Amino acid sequence: MKRIKIAILGAGGFAREVLWALRDARAHASGARFEPVAFVDRVRRTDLFKGLPVVTLDDVRPDTFLICGIGGMTEIKERVVNDALARGHRFAPAVIAEGARVGPDIVIGDGTIICAGSIATCDITIGAHVAVNLDCTIGHDAEVGDFTTISPGVHVSGNVNIGHAVYLGTASSILEGLQLGERSILGAGAVATRDVPRHALAVGVPAVVKKAVREFACALPAATAPEFSPAR
Ligand SMILES: CC(C)(COP(=O)(O)OP(=O)(O)OC[C@H]1O[C@@H](n2cnc3c(N)ncnc32)[C@H](O)[C@@H]1OP(=O)(O)O)[C@@H](O)C(=O)NCCC(=O)NCCS
Repeated sequence: MKRIKIAILGAGGFAREVLWALRDARAHASGARFEPVAFVDRVRRTDLFKGLPVVTLDDVRPDTFLICGIGGMTEIKERVVNDALARGHRFAPAVIAEGARVGPDIVIGDGTIICAGSIATCDITIGAHVAVNLDCTIGHDAEVGDFTTISPGVHVSGNVNIGHAVYLGTASSILEGLQLGERSILGAGAVATRDVPRHALAVGVPAVVKKAVREFACALPAATAPEFSPAR
């Protein structure tokens, strides 16, 4: 079967994990395999990194799709992805890592990755450019907005609605039927027992809102965005 050529945005820790996942992953729906061809950073490098060249967006060929390998807070990922889209690049169909399980009737947007050990059961909608990290569960009828980051070991119960660019810290849980507003943050280990408003940061068990999350202008040109990856 023909493999989908794919370049990874970023060259930090999560980008390396994405590379590892891609080697045995399948594309959602089609089952196609991937062929990682490069990391993409703001600066071209002369040496290989994990066996791949590190190029800039300008070097990515039209036959190559992208996936975002930028972890951490969602605003940097969103800026970098939006910049790539504005320059006409295409993102790969959702990547389902080996050892991840995705049930029937699941819609998953382009550029999303479901990492090993994670399970999304049935009748779920997951947006584009979402990272579902290792060992997460997403229950029936849940909805996950574009650009959301779901850290390792998160449990999303049935009928939960997660907004645009939400950040869920490691091992946090959301009880059934709740809504997390756009750009809200749930801290590591938190248990959401009530809705979390948009742009709110909630922590603890049960989770309480600690402060507001500042507004970000995600349409900033890449030249003003931070580096894709931390210095090695
Ligand atoms: C929630 C989080 C984003 C807050 O970061 P921040 O904006 O820098 O906030 P601060 O560190 O200033 O903390 C604000 C308050 O919340 C508390 N707090 C922060 N994170 C907390 C957590 N996970 N659980 C309980 N309380 C927490 C702090 O103690 C502080 O309390 P105080 O005001 O009473 O002193 C961060 O602590 C967190 O949990 N990040 C998730 C990390 C993670 O899961 N990474 C995955 C990598 S794959």
